[in-house]
Amino acid sequence: MARVIIFGSMNMDLSIECDRMPQAGETLSGHDFITNPGGKGANQAVAASRLGASVGMIAAVGADGFGNELVATLEAVGVDCTKVTRSSETSTGVAIIVRSAGDNRIVLSAGANHLLSSEDVVRALHAVAEPGDVFLTQGECDAEATLAGLHEAHSMGLYTILNPAPARPMPDEAWADVDLVCLNETECELMCGICPTDEEGCLKAASRLQELGVRSVVITLGSEGSIGFEAAGDKPVRVGAHKVEIVDTTAAGDTYIGALAAGHAAGMSLVESMAWGSAASALTVGKLGAQQAIPTAAEVEATGWKCCS
Ligand code: RIB
Repeated sequence: MARVIIFGSMNMDLSIECDRMPQAGETLSGHDFITNPGGKGANQAVAASRLGASVGMIAAVGADGFGNELVATLEAVGVDCTKVTRSSETSTGVAIIVRSAGDNRIVLSAGANHLLSSEDVVRALHAVAEPGDVFLTQGECDAEATLAGLHEAHSMGLYTILNPAPARPMPDEAWADVDLVCLNETECELMCGICPTDEEGCLKAASRLQELGVRSVVITLGSEGSIGFEAAGDKPVRVGAHKVEIVDTTAAGDTYIGALAAGHAAGMSLVESMAWGSAASALTVGKLGAQQAIPTAAEVEATGWKCCS
């Protein structure tokens, strides 16, 4: 079966619940503080692995306690970390997360996440990837290295998935290296200038991205589910969000994207992977934390999830 190769971030999340978000200059008392492994890249790796994919991680952490814990957590769920660099030049990435009423605000210290260069990523890809594998990346690592990874993976015949989170502008020509882009409303507006507030907006945004060269587009719409455009001119497919009690939304999007990657590697159709991701991320929001909240394939199966079409 195809593997999922992820170039992405690894952060230690320091996360605290507040009754409301603090104002500028204000100090609030919080509660339910947790320290737990996170980072969009690593969360997506955990999701894809728990959902049954064989996953390889390309990343960097500091030679410190947080770095050791992040690598150990990935290895414990079966992710191949032989291409995770440990560097004493910088510290491990950290995310400070304030949670309130099911929402969150995140401040990142990138640390080692910006350490790997384009050459490092290309070298690692040649060491671990095969044509037909899936390459998945996001926006928390060095921008040039991310684009180089997409370009090389695409040239090597991998199926490339970009989750531009956080979003940052990208040169138009880089879109041709992207087979599938998965993004939320805010990321979509930043990446293509169109805010997808309704189905027509989603269609316009997807068409714009497809004109730029990307093949498939999935737009996530929070409680409204997600909408997918497999290829230019295709009818959109919609998947609803599950109605669940929200404990913490951290890593819900990462779970969904991990499922898209694992689903493609397992030969699922786009809409099937979207429905699987929707069922999996509904379980993630029901638990506190990032990686510790991500479900296994058996837990998702137990929900009786079904593909909508
Ligand atoms: O998507 C959630 C993740 O974003 C957190 O785990 C945090 O580390 C930030 O990268």
